[in-house]
Amino acid sequence: MELTRGVLVTGADGQLGAALCEAFADTDVVALTQADWDVTLPPPALPEVDVVLHAAAWTDVDDAEEHPQEAAAVNVGGTQHAAEIGAPLVLFSTDYVFDGRKREPYVESDAPAPLSVYGRTKLQAEAEAGEDAWIVRTSWLFGWTGTNFVRTMLRLGAERDELAVVDDQRGCPTYVGHLAPAVRELLDRPRGVWHITADGDCTWADFAEAIFEEAGVDCRVRRITTGELGRRASRPANSVLRTARPHAPRLPHWRDGLRACLERLCG
Ligand SMILES: NC(=O)c1ccc[n+]([C@@H]2O[C@H](COP(=O)([O-])OP(=O)(O)OC[C@H]3O[C@@H](n4cnc5c(N)ncnc54)[C@H](OP(=O)(O)O)[C@@H]3O)[C@@H](O)[C@H]2O)c1
Repeated sequence: MELTRGVLVTGADGQLGAALCEAFADTDVVALTQADWDVTLPPPALPEVDVVLHAAAWTDVDDAEEHPQEAAAVNVGGTQHAAEIGAPLVLFSTDYVFDGRKREPYVESDAPAPLSVYGRTKLQAEAEAGEDAWIVRTSWLFGWTGTNFVRTMLRLGAERDELAVVDDQRGCPTYVGHLAPAVRELLDRPRGVWHITADGDCTWADFAEAIFEEAGVDCRVRRITTGELGRRASRPANSVLRTARPHAPRLPHWRDGLRACLERLCG
C-alpha cells in the first residue's frame, strides 16, 4: 500500500504503538495517546490517513476480570470508534481468544473460545473491526517501553536469587521491534485474520531463564504451575500461534527478539 497520506497510530505510547511509530517514521504518522483521544469516545476531527493502526487497548488481563464493562468499553467500543474513522483498519488481537486445549499451534481457521474477559473483549473487537480489516493476532509482546515480562524479570532478577515462574503455559514471545515492520509488510497482503508472532515457542519459565542468561543476571528460575501462581484470569495452556496463510510476514525467532530488546534496554 502506498502511504501518501500517512498512518494514524492509537495507543502510540504503548509498547507496540511506540514500535509502530518508529516503523512508519518515514511517512506522516499521527501518533495519538490516550490524552489525545480516549478511544471509549467517538473520534475527534482527525487528518485523513491511508490506514489506522489501532494499538490502543485495555491490556491488563487480570484487572479485566473485575472491570469487564470498562475493558469492553476500551476494547470493543474503542475498535468500533477506530473503524468509524473510515480509513482501512489494522486491529491487534491476541492468542487469548483461544482456550489453549489444542495440542498443535493455533492457525487462523481454528475456532476461538476465550477463557477470560480480556479474551472475550478482543474477540468482540475482531467482530467490530469486520472482514474488511487486517486482524493481527499476536502474543506475549515485549519491547523497550511500558510494563512487560522482560522488564519485570530484569527488575526482579536484580533483587532476588530465585524467582518462581510458570512452566505450564507455552507461547511465542514476540518483540514489538520485529512485529511493527511486519505490519508494514502486511499492508500489501489481503485483509482478514493473520497470526503474526515470533518464530519458536517456549514456556514463561524458559523465557525467564533466557532473559537471565542473555542479560547475565544471576538468578535461578523455579518452575511452578499456573495453579500455584493463582492469577484471577484463566490463560490458555497452549498459546502458540502459527500462520497457515500464504505469503505471511515472517518474524525472527523469539530469542533473536530478546537479544534485540536487551541491546536496546541495556546497551
Ligand atoms: N501485551 C501483550 O502481550 C499482547 C499480546 C497479544 C496482543 N496484544 C494486543 O496488542 C496491542 C498492543 O498491546 P501493548 O502490549 O502495546 O499494550 P500496552 O503497552 O498496554 O499499550 C496499550 C495502549 O493503549 C492505551 N489505552 C488504554 N486505554 C485507552 C483508552 N481508553 N483510550 C486510548 N488509549 C488507551 C494505553 O494508554 P495508557 O498508557 O495511557 O493507559 C497504551 O498506550 C493491544 O491491542 C493488545 O491487546 C498484546
